[in-house]
Amino acid sequence: MEIRPMRMKDLVRVRDLEIACIREYFSEILENKWEELPKEWKESLGASNRSAFPSYLEGGLSFVAEEEGEVFGFIFAKMLHHVYNAENLIWVENMGVHTYYRRMGIGYKLLREVVNKGAEMGGTVVHSAIQPDNVPSIMLHKKLGFFIDRRSVALFDVTDMNKKKKKA
Ligand SMILES: CC(C)(COP(=O)(O)OP(=O)(O)OC[C@H]1O[C@@H](n2cnc3c(N)ncnc32)[C@H](O)[C@@H]1OP(=O)(O)O)[C@@H](O)C(=O)NCCC(=O)NCCS
Repeated sequence: MEIRPMRMKDLVRVRDLEIACIREYFSEILENKWEELPKEWKESLGASNRSAFPSYLEGGLSFVAEEEGEVFGFIFAKMLHHVYNAENLIWVENMGVHTYYRRMGIGYKLLREVVNKGAEMGGTVVHSAIQPDNVPSIMLHKKLGFFIDRRSVALFDVTDMNKKKKKA
């Protein structure tokens, strides 16, 4: 299994993998409603969505796991500047491994690659988006030495505010 930088040609395969992971994670909420959900909303999901994908290729911090020409795992990351009191912060947006290839060390290698390459590029800290109930993801990050506490981010949906303004 080779870990290599993600390229534009990986888009379709990585898109399929990421959507499969999102559907798996939200399976309880979504039940069998996937087909009924709005197409535009589904297209906007994930870091592999058409408008986000190129920005994750540019920085050279997104990778895939490939074997015999087939991609079985992905990680989307990029460098952010002057956030969280860090000049160069490595942000990990999402990662996933095909169900058949899980627990074989692929996720670990993908995340390790981001940490190592990010450090080479001058990154001083890595922040990774994890859901508090995602045990495999939490355990993976802990195995690599990530520190996980109760910190979370307060969210404000600006598009929702714009919608409310229009209604008022
Ligand atoms: C999270 C995910 C990427 C892990 O990928 P993976 O290739 O299976 O992980 P690895 O084989 O490299 O596992 C490394 C370590 O993580 C932990 N881990 C991984 N899966 C685990 C599980 N199901 N339960 C408990 N610990 C787990 C273990 O510590 C493991 O080390 P070990 O096998 O020596 O015990 C994978 O489960 C996945 O794609 N899940 C769906 C998408 C998702 O949740 N992405 C995370 C978003 S941040």
